[in-house]
Formats: sequence, structure tokens, C-alpha cells
Amino acid sequence: MTDIQRLLLSRIRDVADYPEPGVMFKDITPLLADPEAFTALTEALASIAEDTGATKIVGLEARGFILGAPVAVRAGLGFIPVRKAGKLPGATLSQSYDLEYGSAEIEIHAEDLSAEDRVLVVDDVLATGGTAEASLQLVRRAKAQVAGVAVLMELAFLNGRARLEPALDGAPLHALLTVG
Ligand code: PRP
Repeated sequence: MTDIQRLLLSRIRDVADYPEPGVMFKDITPLLADPEAFTALTEALASIAEDTGATKIVGLEARGFILGAPVAVRAGLGFIPVRKAGKLPGATLSQSYDLEYGSAEIEIHAEDLSAEDRVLVVDDVLATGGTAEASLQLVRRAKAQVAGVAVLMELAFLNGRARLEPALDGAPLHALLTVG
């Protein structure tokens, strides 16, 4: 494990039985509150963005906004929010995806992307992969290219990486930390 990985891991708080019994929630708020750790995280993700040749960062509501926006600024790229349904005022593309119980819907302003764009999707956690998969589907439906997905943490025991593979179609999935 690198020094940066150790620093990041040390600032993530495990919260038992949240949001429901049996779930160990990974709370990133201590990391965000620590300027050294937050800066290290931003720089690591920005360096991935540069390596993948990304031209735009897509961040996923809500924690993906907190990470994705400074990464975009740091890397000198535009930031595009993927929001939960009903929050974007313009013409949107919508994508539904299955949750453990029920389903969810996310949206993007398609006009913010073009065929020349290479998009890096940024989020805090890859769990089942459903949110990231739906985001990649939105990016492709907006006719942009996929540069990859970058997350702070992958919960490997939920197999999100396997679920994401078809939507990645050869593009990389970068996880700074792997748990489980
Ligand atoms: C969390 C997390 C990811 C997603 C990962 O967001 O920030 O976006 O779940 O889960 P998945 O891989 O199983 O799709 P959440 O929906 O809790 O929203 P929030 O960021 O607004 O809290």
C-alpha cells in the first residue's frame, strides 16, 4: 500500500448498521475535512483523468459532485453533473437502473457532451456498479466516448467491476482503494 492509500484509508470512517442493519457504511466526511487528504485524493484522481486523456469529468450526485468538481478544476477539464431524476432544467437523457429493492433514475444534460469528448466518470464508491453503469450508458447515449471510471473506493465483494465491464467496453476502471 502506498503512503497516499494509507492516508486516504485512515480518513474513511466505518459506520456499522447504516443506513440499515447489517450494512457497514464507508463515511468519507473525515477525509473531506482533512485538507491534506482531500488534496491528495483530488490530485490522484486528476492524474488519472490526465492519463486517460479525458476531456470532461462526469460526477454522480451527490458525493461524486464533491470529488469530481475539484478534479475537473485541477485537471483543467469541464464538469458535468449526473443528477437524480427531476433536478436538471434543460433537455435531459434519462437512464433507469435496478437497486437491490426497486429502481432509480438519473439524468444528464446531453448538450454538454459531444462526439469529440472523452468522459471520465468520478464517484466516491463503486458498490454494485449500478450507478456507474447507468452513467456510462448516459455518456454513450450522448454520443461521447468513455475514457473510464475512477472511484475512491471499490467494494470488491459486491462485484461491481464485473457488472460494469460491458458498459466500459475496454475502458479502464480505476479504484484508489479496494475493500473486501
Ligand atoms: C452511493 C455512492 C455511489 C453509489 C454506489 O450513492 O456515492 O454513487 O451509491 O452504489 P452502486 O455501485 O451500488 O450503484 P447514493 O445513491 O447513496 O447517493 P448519495 O451520493 O447522494 O448519498
